Amino acid sequence: MSKKNSSHRKKVRRRVGKKASKGSFDKYDLYRRAVQSAETDVEFIRDTYKELKKKSATVVREDFCGTFALSTEWIKLGSRNIANGVDLDPEPMTYGRQHYLSKLSPEQQRRMHLFERNVLDPDLPKSDIVLAMNFSYFCFKNRDVMKLYFTNVYKSLNKDGIFIADCFGGKQCHSAIEDTNKFDGFTYYWDQTDFDPVTNEAFFYIHFRVGGQKIERVFSYDWRLWSIPELREIMQEAGFKKTHVYWEGTARDGSGNGVFTRTERGESCDSWIAYIVAEK
Ligand SMILES: C[S@@+](CC[C@H](N)C(=O)[O-])C[C@H]1O[C@@H](n2cnc3c(N)ncnc32)[C@H](O)[C@@H]1O
Repeated sequence: MSKKNSSHRKKVRRRVGKKASKGSFDKYDLYRRAVQSAETDVEFIRDTYKELKKKSATVVREDFCGTFALSTEWIKLGSRNIANGVDLDPEPMTYGRQHYLSKLSPEQQRRMHLFERNVLDPDLPKSDIVLAMNFSYFCFKNRDVMKLYFTNVYKSLNKDGIFIADCFGGKQCHSAIEDTNKFDGFTYYWDQTDFDPVTNEAFFYIHFRVGGQKIERVFSYDWRLWSIPELREIMQEAGFKKTHVYWEGTARDGSGNGVFTRTERGESCDSWIAYIVAEK
């Protein structure tokens, strides 16, 4: 069994950058540096739309956008690109306004639209692409609610629209483990507890160590672990015409290589990340 990513939440195309300073604790900055890969994710999103639709997408909606890092990168990727970010929680959105939006030019800022709303609301803005990233939609534990969400996405997509959601799995995510990854100036911990095979529910936590102090449970996740075939079936029931899976290639050391290609066959790994892409 090959290993792929040692951490379920980190794609290998990790952002590197400034060092975390001792004593400072900026949870969203550490999260971005440890978990997100927004600059390269938007290239995958642009290229996937083009591959499937033979034209360019303009409007992206980032559901569960948090600090809307992906939306910011989408705006920067093209001079006509428009982004709509949707999240329930004003706290990460305020962070994004202060740290990301403020660094865009006035013209770029006008192409960003933020909505403090529930992704289940029926009248969210129409888009060419809807994104549900970093597995946030796993918070929907009931099949009917997941179908309601996918139906809502389907209805709000433009005619040639696509929906992109990431997914993770592998036998390692059914075990109580704590993964540790060292970054410049801080350590990131991905802590998995309490997987229940009857309900497929699991709790996950992110801890950070900065300047000798471990700060526990900075982010907490109460999720149901969904499988790729379950999700594809629900997408089809919600009206999507076709669904595709983009599976990550393997580097020489057995870890994921950050290159995702369309396939109908996966491989058995300790832990994997994939994208599910659904076409309207
Ligand atoms: C794990 S964070 C994801 C942040 C970001 N998308 C990323 O890629 O890392 C999950 C976010 O989903 C938001 N959220 C949870 N349920 C939601 C809902 N029903 N509607 C809108 N946002 C929701 C939370 O407020 C939180 O900011």
